[in-house]
Amino acid sequence: MSKLPAQYTQNTQGCRTLSKETRRLFFALDLSEEHNSDSRNAVLSLKQSLAAYGRPVPDDNLHITLAFLGNVDPIGYRSLCEAADKIHAPSLRVMTHSTGFFRTPSILWLGLADNPELSQLAFSLQGAATSIPGHKPDNKFVPHISLIRKAHAPKQTYPLEIPFYFRRFGIYASVNATQDQGVRYECLNHWALTP
Ligand code: 2AM
Repeated sequence: MSKLPAQYTQNTQGCRTLSKETRRLFFALDLSEEHNSDSRNAVLSLKQSLAAYGRPVPDDNLHITLAFLGNVDPIGYRSLCEAADKIHAPSLRVMTHSTGFFRTPSILWLGLADNPELSQLAFSLQGAATSIPGHKPDNKFVPHISLIRKAHAPKQTYPLEIPFYFRRFGIYASVNATQDQGVRYECLNHWALTP
C-alpha cells in the first residue's frame, strides 16, 4: 500500500479532493507499518508457501479491507472524509487465526480472530458509506487478509496466530498499474485511532 505523501503526514489528515472524476475506493488497515514488520514477514512467508494455489497478492498490496466503497465521485469522497473525521475508535490489537477460502471470487485468505472493536470500526465505516448514492451496504464483515487470488480450494486450513497493532486506518484508491502488474493501492487519507 502506498504511503501518504509527506506533506499530508504532518497532521493525520490527507487530501480531501479527488484527482479524478471517480475512483474505486475502500477503507482499510495497512500491514506495512514498521512496528508490524515481524508479523507482516510471517504473513509473507505463509503467502509464499501457498503460492501453488493460484496468483499471490503482491506484498505491497496486503491489507485488511474495512469497507469496500466502489466508484466514488469527488462529492462522495468529501462526505466520506467528513464521516471518517467523526469516528473515534481505539487502536486495534488483532490476532490472525488461520486460512479460509471465498469461492466467488476465488480467494485464499488469512482470517482474523473475533475482535469486537475491529468489527465496530468496520460497521462505522460501512455506515459512513451509506451516504454514497447507489452504495450497496455489505452487512457481513469477514475480517481477512487476501493472500492468493484466482485460487483453487485447499483441502486443509493453515493456522497462523500472530499479532498486529493498528494505530490508524486509511482510505485507499485502486490504481491500474502498467500491463501485467495488476492493481496497486494508493493511500489518499488516513485517520488516527486513539492510543
Ligand atoms: P479483499 O482483498 O480484502 O477481499 C479493493 O478492491 C479491495 O476491496 C479488494 O482487495 C477487496 O479486498 C475489497 N473488496 C470488497 N468487496 C469488493 C468488491 N465487491 N469488489 C472489489 N473489491 C472488493
